[in-house]
Amino acid sequence: MTLYSKILGHGHFLPKKILTNKDFLKFIDTSDEWIFSRTGIKQRHIATKNELTSDLAIQASRNALESAEMGSDKIDCIILATTTPDDTFPSTATKVQNQLDMNSIPAFDVQAVCSGFIYALQIADSMIKCNKAKNILVIGAETLSKIVDWKDRRTCVLFGDGAGAIILGSSKSKKGVLSTKLYSDGSWHDSLYSDGGPSKNQKVGKIRMNGKDIFKQAVNKLSESTFAALDDCNLSIKNIDWFVPHQANQRIISSTAKKIGISEEKTISTVKFHANTSAASIPLALSSSLTSRVIKPNDILALCAIGGGLTWGSCILKV
Ligand code: ACO
Repeated sequence: MTLYSKILGHGHFLPKKILTNKDFLKFIDTSDEWIFSRTGIKQRHIATKNELTSDLAIQASRNALESAEMGSDKIDCIILATTTPDDTFPSTATKVQNQLDMNSIPAFDVQAVCSGFIYALQIADSMIKCNKAKNILVIGAETLSKIVDWKDRRTCVLFGDGAGAIILGSSKSKKGVLSTKLYSDGSWHDSLYSDGGPSKNQKVGKIRMNGKDIFKQAVNKLSESTFAALDDCNLSIKNIDWFVPHQANQRIISSTAKKIGISEEKTISTVKFHANTSAASIPLALSSSLTSRVIKPNDILALCAIGGGLTWGSCILKV
């Protein structure tokens, strides 16, 4: 019998502190007009010094459990997508597991930068289809503000902190993840990377990016992977109720929506309020839109993301 993995609950969490575009004027040469016109971003949430990625992930996960009306004892795996783990090791997922009293279940992090949540979805979906797990907590959580170079105006205005989580559960009816497509191409390493790492120089490093390269690659790769994922489940763009792309930049979102032939009215955009939260961006946009009932039960969604690596991918999902 074919098994599917459907969404049983969702949650998100944002740090309280908000940094507006105007706040940047105090420490870099920029303007609200420059940032908003090129990125669509107005503000981002920023974690405090003591607020860690695991703290955001735990809050988002608690909200997801509450929305699923599920006790933590029913979860049999945790997959956490992040680029900003609390520690080099062990995984942030194990901290979430411990805090939520989910003992002796597999818990691990996925590192695919901004595509991490789509990667995590494919892994969770495959585990459910193989009957290796019934209910999986899939999280995207980031504190990008901790690896941003606050003196580099080309990058520091783009990122924010947050977390989103869903619970994927085994289902016999054709709902949830209908298809996923994942890709990577390491030859693009130097276009988006952190200039530190445990093995390279024993530092955490800061975000370095060639914005123009990323922009061009993003639009092409996001649209190609979305079409590939649609083909995989025999659907077309006409079947999609909502396009939920990685929330990096409004111009990338709009150009990709245009390229795949979906209207702005069917495109979820939260980048104005959250900025780019990397692996948290899609679950955050998804959970906010489910909470506000913009996205409704049985809607069919096209999710897509691209990030450092380059890594990219898409997922077609029925709510
Ligand atoms: N405020 C004011 N001026 C700025 C700022 C700023 N924050 N940042 C850069 N500038 C200046 C530059 O110094 C440059 O000035 P110069 O001509 O005197 O040297 C000028 O603006 C143009 O700079 P560009 O880098 O050419 O700006 P561009 O038009 O390419 O826009 C941007 C930059 C917004 C980053 C764009 O390339 C982009 O959207 N790229 C996509 C990257 C992205 O979204 N990355 C997110 C992470 S990757 C991911 O999640 C997919």
